[in-house]
Amino acid sequence: MTNNTRGRIGLGAVLLVVTAIVGSCATLGGGPPEVAGPRLFTFPGDWTKVPAKTVTLFYPGQASWEFLVGSGHPGAEPVKAGTPCAACHAGQQEKLGASLAKHATLEPDPIPGKRATVPLTVLAAFDGQYIYLRLQWDAPDPSVTHTLWRYDGKKWVRAGGPKPDVLKKGIAPSYEDRVAVLIGDRDGIPAYDGAKVTFSQAGCFITCHNSMRAMPKEPKQAEIKAHPYWGNAGKKRDDIRKYLLITRAGQDEAGAWDKVKSPAELERLRQAGRFLDLWQWRAARSNPLGHAGDDWVFDYRWFDKGKNLFTSPGEPKWMYDRGKMGFVAIPEAKLKEMLDKFPLIIGRNAVPFDPTAPFKEGDLLPHPVLQEPTESVSDVMASGTWAAGRWTVDLRRKLNTGKPDDKMLAPGKVYDIGFSVFEDRVSNRRHHVTLPPLTLGLGVDADVKAVKVGP
Ligand code: HEC
Repeated sequence: MTNNTRGRIGLGAVLLVVTAIVGSCATLGGGPPEVAGPRLFTFPGDWTKVPAKTVTLFYPGQASWEFLVGSGHPGAEPVKAGTPCAACHAGQQEKLGASLAKHATLEPDPIPGKRATVPLTVLAAFDGQYIYLRLQWDAPDPSVTHTLWRYDGKKWVRAGGPKPDVLKKGIAPSYEDRVAVLIGDRDGIPAYDGAKVTFSQAGCFITCHNSMRAMPKEPKQAEIKAHPYWGNAGKKRDDIRKYLLITRAGQDEAGAWDKVKSPAELERLRQAGRFLDLWQWRAARSNPLGHAGDDWVFDYRWFDKGKNLFTSPGEPKWMYDRGKMGFVAIPEAKLKEMLDKFPLIIGRNAVPFDPTAPFKEGDLLPHPVLQEPTESVSDVMASGTWAAGRWTVDLRRKLNTGKPDDKMLAPGKVYDIGFSVFEDRVSNRRHHVTLPPLTLGLGVDADVKAVKVGP
């Protein structure tokens, strides 16, 4: 594998220079030699002068909030009383991660060879207008592709997908790398109504419940569809994602997924800012656009308002523009060589899917198709590069976006944060997470201190 293959796919490489995913690797499964997403902003400081903090993320298995406050966790009562996780588990990330990756009860579906921990290096800075984060972690086998469509000679079928699910079906995994940041106000988000423990002590764990995808009490799709709030008559969901128990009118073993408070009560909480901001940089579904996703966690993990960075229709709706790219789809044998380089982007290199186009058996198309984000979705710009076995992801967001689905950040204040890293082609719960508590200070001391740069 060499770098001199750069630009080999002449036409397309010229066109998609903006996504600038360069280099190639002809073998299936191997990572790209180098990846560089577009950079839509400049950092006004010098990263080499910004202090770096390395935090150790561990694999959490199915250690949900319901587990942590239940009889199976020796720390349950202290947790409820507001004792931070680190009071008992500081420095135990390696031990926790190694145990949870193959735990008899908290990991029913282990991934062979799962890393116990991922060290994440965090640098933070701010100027008069923006906050900047630089996040770095080792990724020996990075992935910049997500789920796929494959033409079997007669019809298009779904291909790719996350570990461990697709391994069991004998399908080669294809799922993107990701890093996420969860942000909340100090002691602003109680774990449940009347709780002494908040996001400040228990971090992301207060958002993780037994009812969520790939968790032990995940409801059946039919149950969700029949639910007046979640189902076809309401929010039209078919799964449960991260949420705060303060949006629920009770608690139970499943995490009270179905006990949502009244719309008026939810609106009161939302207006009081009782939600978390979530930025998700995605190697396939956001990086080629120079953005990270902007979500918020409340009664569900919602995307912010606006046109999302990607759309994933239930059938192929887009293909490559042959006039611009020289091809309509990507031959399976060139998966790594081409797919890493050519994300399919509406408005740039995608045209509406035409079933009469000259497809061959084994042709691939990306399943999620990218599109230019609008409104609040477009708030977080990002530039991710991968080189020499390591991701470096830079994020930038306005301190004050003025939007109701964002957390405003102000110099001189401290916020609670949590990070997660998705590596090795995994989805939903199978990420590595920080051990709470973890704080971010803007110009003031905290676990991660953002330093003032520029004007
Ligand atoms: C008062 C002390 C204490 C606090 C606070 C505490 N724990 Fe624990 N936790 C324990 C003890 C003791 C065990 C059992 C021994 C062990 O596995 O380390 C345990 C076990 C666990 C386990 C299972 C580990 C395994 O391998 O079986 C997880 C996961 C866990 N704790 C996570 C957390 C998280 C997350 C928090 C914060 C929300 C937390 N704990 C807060 C004391 C505590």
